Amino acid sequence: MPKIFIASADGLTAAADALALPVFESDLSDPKARLRALRTADEALDGLLVTAAKQEGFSGKRDQLFALHTHGKLKATRVYLVGMGARAKFEPEVLRQAAGAVARRAARSGVKTLAFAISETRNQPGCVRALVEGALLGTYEFNRHKTTKNAAKHGLKELRAVLPEGAERTRELDHAAALGEATAEGAAWARDLVNEPANEVNPTTLAQAASDWARQHGLKVEVLGRKEIERLKMGMFLGVAQGSHEEPKLIHLEYRPKDAKAQKQKPVALVGKAITFDSGGYSLKTQEGMVDMKSDMAGSAAVFGAMGAIAKLAPPFPVHAFAGACENMLDGKSYRLGDVLRSRLGKTVEILNTDAEGRLVLGDVLTYANELQPAVIVDLATLTGACMVALGRHVTGVFGDDDGAVWSLLESAKTAGEDMWRMPLTDSLKDQLKSEIADYKNVGERYGGAITAALFLREFVGQTPWVHLDIAGPSLSNKEKGYLSKGGTGVGVRTLVEFVRRRAEEIAAG
Ligand code: BES
Ligand code: MN
Ligand code: ZN
Repeated sequence: MPKIFIASADGLTAAADALALPVFESDLSDPKARLRALRTADEALDGLLVTAAKQEGFSGKRDQLFALHTHGKLKATRVYLVGMGARAKFEPEVLRQAAGAVARRAARSGVKTLAFAISETRNQPGCVRALVEGALLGTYEFNRHKTTKNAAKHGLKELRAVLPEGAERTRELDHAAALGEATAEGAAWARDLVNEPANEVNPTTLAQAASDWARQHGLKVEVLGRKEIERLKMGMFLGVAQGSHEEPKLIHLEYRPKDAKAQKQKPVALVGKAITFDSGGYSLKTQEGMVDMKSDMAGSAAVFGAMGAIAKLAPPFPVHAFAGACENMLDGKSYRLGDVLRSRLGKTVEILNTDAEGRLVLGDVLTYANELQPAVIVDLATLTGACMVALGRHVTGVFGDDDGAVWSLLESAKTAGEDMWRMPLTDSLKDQLKSEIADYKNVGERYGGAITAALFLREFVGQTPWVHLDIAGPSLSNKEKGYLSKGGTGVGVRTLVEFVRRRAEEIAAG
């Protein structure tokens, strides 16, 4: 990952391979509104920069990017004009997306040092964080399995975040950059795990990766195997896992504050779905439905990825992250349709669809997390295709009865630039989960499938404030756009880090 520097406005004239200048739509019609750096660069290029950009159809709209060689007329060999859209609609997410696109383009052109001007004078920390996150994630590549690599050519070495005229580097901005960097590292780590195929990432290697990551960040880690999961009576988790030759693993990471008083605060518990491959089991998926199912552990990648940045944030309360990792496979030993499983909570569940496996594993792990009596539980899961039908590929479905916890999560998502939308936990659908012979069945009807899945999970969290995020859609991206690459997105990492940061701030404020 490139090194991050924060510079005052004159950082734009210091040596760099490339200069990125943000341009709002209105800047093109009103030369006076333009960034000083844009005016200077345009003058040095005899007015060619803006003229050529306009002629090529650049109008400052979002997602537009115009590149020009400077032929020795500027210190930088390239200058990029970056479309920022309407000035009135600016928010840090616009910058995050733009930074991602420019950084990727620059890295692919062999640029080693990129200076990016921040033109916005409001919310400087938010802008610095967004710029750092966008640029780092935009240059993310997954090429571990390519035997001919272009990595050497693609290595951006330095990103310089250049502040607007008059602004100075402060400790607050340094913190914002550091937080952005740690968050992007967590999201990139999560992307790697999601992008790795299921013959590389299985419950054992996932536990190994999470343990290594935990040690790097000074987090406590505990990994339990089949025997211990049996002792914990997690019958739903074991039922799903029994069709695989891979041993299930219960993975637990813990951030423990140094301060004794902070240690006694109620913890935050994060839970992630960790099905390392979901074939559907006897309710076998189709080719089309199965092809991406190495990504069914994206929830766990997000909660563990976020823990790295959370360790650096050092909030004044403990944070725990849990995942029950297993495969959902088809085998002579697999769980069957009609089987009845007994959960750790003691409730029994009749299996009417072996492809509704996530809620079974999550149910037992939520019970386990809840035994810590946390202040709040947040779970992330690639849980239902129904949520994708409802909200599309980009938007996360948010469920929960505790309005305070849900709003805090939604506000965090907004700040983090992750699209999320609240869904109802409609009580009347609960009847669909009644079984003839057990306490529950594991599926309802097709309609409202994301809601019945959430209602099933709710049975295992008791009275604890709880927020469930269905990330089936946004866990993968089908195109390269802004800071997103094709494949794993690391969705949830930024929101979780912000959620914990806000809570830390609230507690510090009393
Ligand atoms: N992992 C899938 C959900 C999923 C689907 C994630 C598409 C990402 C993309 C989950 O285990 C599943 O199979 N859900 C079923 C539930 C159904 C059987 C009630 C589904 O959505 O079809
Ligand atoms: Mn499934
Ligand atoms: Zn699944």
